[in-house]
Amino acid sequence: MNDKKAAGEKAAEYVKDGMVIGLGTGSTVYYTICKIGSMVRDGLKIKAVSTSQATNDIAVKLGIPMVDLNCIDYIDITIDGADEVDTSLNGIKGGGGALLLEKIVATYSKYNIWVIDSNKYVSKLGRFPVPVEVIPNSYMHLSRLFEKNDMNPILRMKNGEVFTTDSGNYILDLNMKYIEKVHELNSWLNNITGVVEHGLFINIVDKVIIAKNEEINILTR
Ligand code: A5P
Repeated sequence: MNDKKAAGEKAAEYVKDGMVIGLGTGSTVYYTICKIGSMVRDGLKIKAVSTSQATNDIAVKLGIPMVDLNCIDYIDITIDGADEVDTSLNGIKGGGGALLLEKIVATYSKYNIWVIDSNKYVSKLGRFPVPVEVIPNSYMHLSRLFEKNDMNPILRMKNGEVFTTDSGNYILDLNMKYIEKVHELNSWLNNITGVVEHGLFINIVDKVIIAKNEEINILTR
């Protein structure tokens, strides 16, 4: 078993009958989704909302009953991956480009769990670029603004073309090496016109499941 699988499967233990579950996106939570799929086949009764088209497709194939976010009052638990998590349990997400829906689903969740391997647990955030989802027709202006602030923005590409999110936006990845003041950066990004969302997830997660050599360490806020 690898660490992603160990962390991902551990999180499925928190899923109980009758819950509405938020399903995150990425290669670690993939294992959670597979595990939940097998629990559903064994009789577990849940509903789930997804954070991306990719996750929705996997969940539907596994027979997990999916519902639209707008058709439920709240989500009991959301389980998701992360790209970096610091010792205050703040994180960077969006390496897969699903940050907007991931943050919306996390916000309407009573409880959030992240699953990571130990390489992603860091003392300071920022080695992993911070993804910023932007409205396509303003991206050059925003890019210049980030450039001016020494954030080294790079327009995300995929297969030689500009990457577009599930919501049809672009992503500028900010390469800062480390972030000195996470809360200030969070507020600054929240207030820029043309920025749809960004990958700093501050004070959102409740529990982080970290796997190292298949051993599990659980951190709770
Ligand atoms: C998706 O946009 C991301 O936020 C993922 O949750 C994050 O990148 C973790 O993905 P992996 O588990 O594949 O590393």
